[in-house]
This record gives sequence, C-alpha cells and structure tokens, in this order.
Amino acid sequence: MSQIEPIIRFQHVTKAFGPKRIYDDLNFNIYPGETITVLGGSGVGKSVMIKMLVGLLTADSGEILFHDRDLTKLNEQQMLSVRKKISMVFQLAALFDSLSVFENIAYPLREHLRLPEDELKERVFRQLEMVSLPPEMANRYPSELSGGMKKLVSLARSLALEPEVILYDEPTTGLDPESTVNINKLIRQVQEQRQVCSIVITHDMSGAFYFSDRIAFLYGRKIHKIGTVDEIRTSTDPILYRFLRGIPDDVPIN
Ligand SMILES: Nc1ncnc2c1ncn2[C@@H]1O[C@H](COP(=O)(O)OP(=O)(O)OP(=O)(O)O)[C@@H](O)[C@H]1O
Ligand SMILES: [Mg+2]
Repeated sequence: MSQIEPIIRFQHVTKAFGPKRIYDDLNFNIYPGETITVLGGSGVGKSVMIKMLVGLLTADSGEILFHDRDLTKLNEQQMLSVRKKISMVFQLAALFDSLSVFENIAYPLREHLRLPEDELKERVFRQLEMVSLPPEMANRYPSELSGGMKKLVSLARSLALEPEVILYDEPTTGLDPESTVNINKLIRQVQEQRQVCSIVITHDMSGAFYFSDRIAFLYGRKIHKIGTVDEIRTSTDPILYRFLRGIPDDVPIN
C-alpha cells in the first residue's frame, strides 16, 4: 500500500483536555478505499480522533492532512467543504425526530447542494436502497423506527453526499446480534460498492475482523499497534493480546 498516497495523515498530533493528555504523538496514515478499525479501551480517545477529522474538536499541535489540506488550519467555511467529503455516523443515531426519514436523508443534500427536487428524490431513494430499507420507509418518523432501523437511516443520511470517507463511531453498540450482523455487512458492502474509505470504532471484535482491511490499536496516548486483521489477531504483543481476549493485567498469560 505504501506506493499509494494516503487520503488522511495524522502527523505528530497532540491533544489534551486541561491536564488530561489524550494524545502525545499520534501518527497514522489511512489509504483510499480501505476500511480501518480503531480499537482501544474506553476513554483512550477513539471518538476524539474522529471528531478532530470533522472539525468538532481541534488538535493542540501537529497536522491532520486530508489529501494535501491541513484540517487543523482551516476556517469554518473551508471545513464545511471538507465535511461534504468526510461523513460521520454518530455513536447515537441522532436523527431529527420532527423530520420524516426522507427529510432526514435529504437534509445534508439540501444543506450543501442545490439539486432539482427530482434529483434530490432520486438521491434519497438510492441511499435507502443502499442500506436495504424499502422505499415506503421514507414517510416514517424516527419515533416509529426500531433502533436498528434508526442506525440504517443515519447511515443512509451519511451516504447521501457520497463522501470519500465515512466515520463510524460504534455503529452497532446497543443493537441486538441480528441487527449488528446486518450493519457489519453493510459497512463492507458500502465500501465495496462505493469504494469509500471507512474508519470504524467498535467494540465488536468479530465485526472488526470481518470488515477491516487493517486494525489500529490505541493505547498509551498513541497508536500502539497497527496491522492487517491477521497481524493483529496473531500478535503476541502482550498489551494487545490481553485487550483482544479481555485478560486483566494481573492474570498471567499462558
Ligand atoms: N469535549 C471534551 N471536553 C473534555 N474532555 C473530553 C471531551 N471529549 C472527550 N473528553 C475526554 O477525553 C477522553 C477520551 O474521550 P473519547 O470520547 O475519545 O473516548 P473513547 O475512546 O471514544 O471511549 P468510549 O469507548 O467510552 O467511547 C475521555 O476521558 C473524555 O472524558
Ligand atoms: Mg467513543
């Protein structure tokens, strides 16, 4: 992969909240079209990392390059144009309750593009189809949907602008096993059909092993280990080994 230019580069990124240091030196390349999963314990800064990518949080120092643009140096207006290309699926579905499914998915399109109404409609229904929801769903309201369906609508909304990068923050947390498998399949399907780059934060290891091209493990305020699924799964690094198997650090390995 090293001949291909990365789409995203974290370079010497630091971030702290007051005295609490989250990243001391975050270095991390992400390549076009790959699905990369970010693993790490609760509170290590997984969500912070992807929030910095969409400008919800700013790095204290270092560079975050998207293609050749340093996101840490963009003003709000410039960031808005980046947000058309990097889309985030939130930890909670975060739909607008007062808007129908159709209007929820249409929202970013209305916000960013001036499409004729028939084109807009076509775009919205294309996203519903991508997430395997029937067109009738368009008229429903979020309160009438199950948790799994809300996630699908949220994903459809994130896909509407046809972004280059999709960020998934715990897309399956709180879902039943069947909905979890469905979302995991969709993550893979979206990557295959749209050739997007996906960054996924999840605690679902079987999902991560299923859809990832690479896995990054955050620990000690930086990327502790990064590699292919096989490299991570078979790693003998003691910290990663314990994390993947849920072995407490006062229990000896073997
Ligand atoms: N806006 C903020 N202001 C102050 N502290 C914050 C802010 N956002 C995150 N933090 C702190 O930064 C740390 C990392 O947060 P983050 O949300 O990235 O964790 P995470 O790895 O996503 O954890 P989880 O698996 O529980 O979602 C946490 O200790 C959190 O309390
Ligand atoms: Mg989080």
